Amino acid sequence: MQIPKDLIEEALRSLSSVANESDFFKVRSQFLGKKSFIQLSFKELKNLDPEKKVLAAKELNLLRNQLNNIFRDFQENINFNSAVDIIDTSLPVQDSVSGAHPISKCTNKILEYFENLNFKTFYGNEIETDFYNFEALNFPKNHPARQMHDTFYVDTQSKDSYLLRTHTSNTQIHSMLEHAAPIYMLSPGRVYRCDSDTTHLPMFTQVEGLAVDVDISFADLKGILIDFLEFFFNKKMDIRFRPSYFPFTEPSAEVDIKFDSDWLEVLGCGMVHPNVLKNCNIDHHKFQGYAFGMGVERLAMLYYGVKDIRDFYSSNLEFLEQI
Ligand code: DAH
Repeated sequence: MQIPKDLIEEALRSLSSVANESDFFKVRSQFLGKKSFIQLSFKELKNLDPEKKVLAAKELNLLRNQLNNIFRDFQENINFNSAVDIIDTSLPVQDSVSGAHPISKCTNKILEYFENLNFKTFYGNEIETDFYNFEALNFPKNHPARQMHDTFYVDTQSKDSYLLRTHTSNTQIHSMLEHAAPIYMLSPGRVYRCDSDTTHLPMFTQVEGLAVDVDISFADLKGILIDFLEFFFNKKMDIRFRPSYFPFTEPSAEVDIKFDSDWLEVLGCGMVHPNVLKNCNIDHHKFQGYAFGMGVERLAMLYYGVKDIRDFYSSNLEFLEQI
């Protein structure tokens, strides 16, 4: 087996003209890769006489170690990024995608409708105590309805256990404790649940609404939600209110809209439960309230015809550009 004497010099010469990371890996593969002289020679060792085999193997090992050291030292001492990061300021600016994210666009459309009716927007906390997320909303400890809100607890041991809020309904409590009735409040934001598939995400967006005043009835709630949904989808819709259960409203309903002959649930609503008003020091003989909560991703999926909720957060520009 003929081992070229100048292999090391040749490698050093090739490295001296390396300008970027991809050149470096090409040269390294030429000298140490599967098809390099060294690797092919190792494969040929089996054809040699035992004596020659030992000598050739020694020589090849020595050479391979030298080459490995040369390439390792070179890689450690060069900063490819500074070598290739040359910004050509004379190039025209690339077109970039600009504008709001589809979820922000839909949230803004919801806010626009209710702000025109004098609802005030209120931003709540995403890290919340058990009191605001559950207890004050009439979900006592061990209430079975808590189970639907499988959640992320921050600290389950302390007295005031913290969690990532599971709905924006926590903002109802903050606004009722901080402001005297009448209240017309709207609250958008992120919520968190232990849930993930094509129609559920562990983090999603809701908008909560609350009205507390004298002489408020379910008819007001029904009227405003039908009008809102027709505003949102820009057309007359088939809408139904289906009796449901939430601990913080009584009566409660889920609202479905008809899409291509299927009924799809888009929001929950109801009349604020007297216990919730009491928990917030509001006279429940004098005041009534209605409340509603909607999932923005769900509305956006229907509005834009998106089938997989995860598309909204995959940062895929081709998807976002279509919207
Ligand atoms: N918080 C409920 C949920 O996340 C949605 C909801 C239902 C909000 C009824 C409300 C309401 O304000 O009245 O599933």
